[in-house]
Amino acid sequence: MRLGVGLLRGAGPLLRPAASASAPAPARPRALVYERHGEPADVLQLKDLELGELGGSGVHVKMLAAPINPSDINMIQGTYALLSDLPAVGGNEGVGEVIEVGSHVTSLKPGDWVIPGDAGLGTWRTDAVFTEEKLMKLPGDIPLLCAATLSVNPCTAYRMLSDFETLGPGDSVIQNAANSGVGQAVIQIAGAMGIKTINVIRDRPDLQKLVDRLTALGADYVITEEMLRKPEMKELFKKVPKPRLALNCVGGKSATEMLRLLQHKGTMVTYGGMAKQPVTAPVSALIFKDVKLRGFWMTQWKKDQAHNKDRLTGMIQTLCDLIRKGQLSAPACTEIPLKDYQIAIEASMKPFISAKQILVM
Ligand SMILES: NC(=O)c1ccc[n+]([C@@H]2O[C@H](COP(=O)([O-])OP(=O)(O)OC[C@H]3O[C@@H](n4cnc5c(N)ncnc54)[C@H](OP(=O)(O)O)[C@@H]3O)[C@@H](O)[C@H]2O)c1
Repeated sequence: MRLGVGLLRGAGPLLRPAASASAPAPARPRALVYERHGEPADVLQLKDLELGELGGSGVHVKMLAAPINPSDINMIQGTYALLSDLPAVGGNEGVGEVIEVGSHVTSLKPGDWVIPGDAGLGTWRTDAVFTEEKLMKLPGDIPLLCAATLSVNPCTAYRMLSDFETLGPGDSVIQNAANSGVGQAVIQIAGAMGIKTINVIRDRPDLQKLVDRLTALGADYVITEEMLRKPEMKELFKKVPKPRLALNCVGGKSATEMLRLLQHKGTMVTYGGMAKQPVTAPVSALIFKDVKLRGFWMTQWKKDQAHNKDRLTGMIQTLCDLIRKGQLSAPACTEIPLKDYQIAIEASMKPFISAKQILVM
């Protein structure tokens, strides 16, 4: 599928190769499998697997691309809230092309592109037979990297911007780890909603390059963790209102400082804990500002919509519309062939990489 990847990367008119242009599937499907929990470099193995029976409700999917997200790593390490039965295939997100469908399958046909409807599918593989209800069909004009990274981070960003505070044009949101996949989606989706973003990142040798990249994406203000603690922040709030919403991906001091900057009765939503430190709330923020501390987990949100699938498909449609209008792009990515997975896994666990590692099959 390298041909397809190359063709689609430039977005532009959003062309997708026809199903017949795909390279033939390898004789034996291959997958990144782990038989025990541990460090991914130690426990992941690229193995040949049997393709399951198609049966009546099966869908044979040829995977095209799948990202490596922090939660995938935590699942392999055995430290995540959701763990697969072992042995398991790694990866929870990605995009694939339907090759063949069982006789009872009604919503999908060969050539359709699909993404997982939920976590736990095991997407780091060349081919698989999934059941129809585990998959969501994507519209035919979404570029490969957008499709591969759509079901987790943009959905998380969209929900957090929509479900906790009623925000409108002119309001502001503050977020840390603003260069993360979620952070980049927050910048773009908030921008499309007319909401100003204050984006906190860690200092680094090539800081200006990252500031420029996030600014080009639509970030209104980009500041470092150190600046967050300085009195000069007062100057910023002469230009933009204090945030009603803070999105916390980090924890520790970073979260505490964002809490101090929230508006009266504002909300901080914690969705990640990259610093592996607890959230400490200043007593004054609770007593005098009555700030709300909330959490969000996309997996739980999707479970909660089990009987309301229209809400999930509606959100995907909204995000696809933003992609079409050029208001939402894929995060900065590095594409790596599945066979070189060790390189991708190692890069995904390094600090200051600022690029999502995407396995291409
Ligand atoms: N709750 C949910 O539903 C949900 C959904 C999606 C993602 N998440 C979580 O959100 C987080 C980000 O996911 P992602 O896919 O967007 O990640 P990503 O694209 O891989 O980015 C990781 C981010 O974490 C930052 N980071 C890493 N170590 C850090 C540390 N010690 N202190 C501060 N920042 C650090 C990185 O900044 P540098 O460039 O400075 O290294 C980068 O901004 C993960 O914890 C993930 O599990 C949660």
